[in-house]
Amino acid sequence: MEWITLKELLEKDIAHGGKLVAAFGKPGSGKTGLLLGIANRLRSYEICIFRGLQTGQEFRFPSDVKILAYQCNPKFYDGRGDPIDVGVKHVNNFNDVLMQAELDKLNVLYMPFENERRYWVEFARFLVHRLPFVYPSAYVSLFVDEVEDIVPFQEPGATREMKQFVAQMKEFRKCLTSMYCATQQYFDLDYRALGKFQYRIYLQGARVPMRERFSQELVDGLSLGQGVMTGSFFGKFVFGDYPTKKIVVVR
Ligand SMILES: Nc1ncnc2c1ncn2[C@@H]1O[C@H](COP(=O)(O)OP(=O)(O)OP(=O)(O)O)[C@@H](O)[C@H]1O
Ligand SMILES: [Mg+2]
Repeated sequence: MEWITLKELLEKDIAHGGKLVAAFGKPGSGKTGLLLGIANRLRSYEICIFRGLQTGQEFRFPSDVKILAYQCNPKFYDGRGDPIDVGVKHVNNFNDVLMQAELDKLNVLYMPFENERRYWVEFARFLVHRLPFVYPSAYVSLFVDEVEDIVPFQEPGATREMKQFVAQMKEFRKCLTSMYCATQQYFDLDYRALGKFQYRIYLQGARVPMRERFSQELVDGLSLGQGVMTGSFFGKFVFGDYPTKKIVVVR
């Protein structure tokens, strides 16, 4: 098994467009850190938008963060419940999300926590239909940690919203939109969504589906900070640590 870098995964050009990437791994395998690390490498060239979670993972990011709240009012607290003062830019439409987003920063997008999936469907639709060259960068990269909230595994009667999201995902590549997602196991995701990821990354504790061209043993042998990448290229890679500096709770 060859050691590779993620360079090819991160390179973009108009002809090849956006990239859809899913990372899998058990709790504590470094999924969130991996996403933050990818964003850190892309932030100068692409509008990087990180999904705001109730656990404030963006506070692990080593560089500047800009918090955008779309039609919601997130409040930030420390581990004892004391409010912390975090600058939040409120935006009411998706055009403003991209207008307010800044290159070089991690732009963290909070949507209403209730019915959040609905807002992601609308945002995805907006991204597919946007004019690419009117924003700070034509390329947009979405970082959707805990993506099972958006496209959960379900038996046949998948919700209409989820199907709509998957339909937009299909268009992302041609619209210079990339999506880097993470969840624990491939079977936590809707199979239609799963099929859209051109690149898959397996970290510690991930189960390898039958259709992959390598065995479970390969992933079982990984240490923290190592992963297996598969897609148009294939190999083992290492990634860095983005440790939690402080506990933040968002409500
Ligand atoms: N490359 C690495 N090298 C060393 N330690 C790491 C590395 N990546 C992550 N860690 C450490 O492992 C722990 C878990 O990392 P992280 O939160 O990124 O994992 P996760 O897969 O997102 O976990 P969860 O499923 O709980 O969200 C953290 O304490 C982090 O500092
Ligand atoms: Mg995580």
